[in-house]
Amino acid sequence: MRGVGIFILIIAATQTGTDSYFGLTEKKVHLEQLDAISPNCKSLSLSKKQRRFCKKDPGMPETLFEAVRLSTAECQYQFFNERWNCTSGGGYRENVLKRGFKETSFLYAISSAGLAHSVARSCSRGILDRCTCDESFNDQTNRATWKWGGCGDNLKYSQKFVQNFLQLESTSRGQDLRAKAEKHNSEVGVRAVRQGFNTTCKCHGVSASCTTRTCWQQLSPFREIGNQLKEKYEKAYKVVSTTNESTGTSQLVTKSQKGKSRGATATDGEEPPPRPSDLVYVDNSPHFCKKSRFSPGTDGRRCLVGPNCNSICCGRGYNIKTKVVEKSCKCRVVWCCYVECDMCSESVEIHLCKNNPDN
Ligand SMILES: *[C@@H]1O[C@H](CO)[C@@H](O)[C@H](O)[C@H]1NC(C)=O
Ligand SMILES: *[C@@H]1O[C@H](CO)[C@@H](O)[C@H](O)[C@H]1NC(C)=O
Ligand SMILES: *[C@@H]1O[C@H](CO)[C@@H](O)[C@H](O)[C@H]1NC(C)=O
Repeated sequence: MRGVGIFILIIAATQTGTDSYFGLTEKKVHLEQLDAISPNCKSLSLSKKQRRFCKKDPGMPETLFEAVRLSTAECQYQFFNERWNCTSGGGYRENVLKRGFKETSFLYAISSAGLAHSVARSCSRGILDRCTCDESFNDQTNRATWKWGGCGDNLKYSQKFVQNFLQLESTSRGQDLRAKAEKHNSEVGVRAVRQGFNTTCKCHGVSASCTTRTCWQQLSPFREIGNQLKEKYEKAYKVVSTTNESTGTSQLVTKSQKGKSRGATATDGEEPPPRPSDLVYVDNSPHFCKKSRFSPGTDGRRCLVGPNCNSICCGRGYNIKTKVVEKSCKCRVVWCCYVECDMCSESVEIHLCKNNPDN
């Protein structure tokens, strides 16, 4: 059995992406398990190296679970009204991760962002032993009236952690086009977290006159990072790999597309390298209308009447169903100080895509 294990390990190591994303497949951790079991390294499927990272710090399992929760929930939120809705189960997401679609690029970016966000926050919350608050002072304005204090989220530590955990610099990573795109997209995710990292201050003094302020570095809410990455997904660039003649190494360059060009003038389809903030993809996405390896299709999917239904239902049309929901109503303030409501039932119409005729 031992030999088999080693054999599998070698196969896994030669595939791209085994260490390069985190927490987005059922193999990593079942989402339903997240709330049911107490965080531990064993219930996460990790590479050998990642397991070592996990065991090194007693707060790490909790932090990794939080990262999975954060990035999965955000992906499902951002794609709730799209054909591909970030669904897990059925191996669909694993199959998307094995390809180089736009959707794959989002998955890589959101998972590295979730990891960077969770680790930085765990540092400042005292959950991790190996890092503490960020106490660096990097804003020079009005320094005299500031007191640098509070407990900043430790992005410096978390960026380094993500680099090592996802092996972003490792030479054992594949050097093919897809591996390069994965690395690039993971870095876009970390960068998005970094860009939402601001100085936050709290005023003190007579009626908040702000004679003194306490300032610290704070991450923006993960929702904002998710919104940004979703925008980047919509504007993602297709890339190919070329050899840079001056250095002799291969690098990503954007591919010219109809109506979309990054360069001022494109010479024979050669375009500049993607910017560090752009998401990139390698393969054109399938339409996700019918059941396939990549999605369950959109039969019976709920949609929002109008263009959203046209798109999600792929032109098949939808059925209207009436559903009765309970809602609080006739709310009034009861002196003092709470609100009392009645429960009313209300019927709402929901729109569900018709099935594909050949399913
Ligand atoms: C940081 O700045 C960005 C853009 O200016 C803003 O959207 C974000 O909410 C800010 N984050 C915090 C924590 O204040
Ligand atoms: C080749 O690599 C060098 C050094 O990294 C870079 O400055 C240059 O822009 C690259 N050339 C092209 C055509 O991208
Ligand atoms: C995604 O869509 C499928 C049906 O196509 C549905 O079963 C699933 O619950 C949806 N997932 C989310 C997270 O909304």
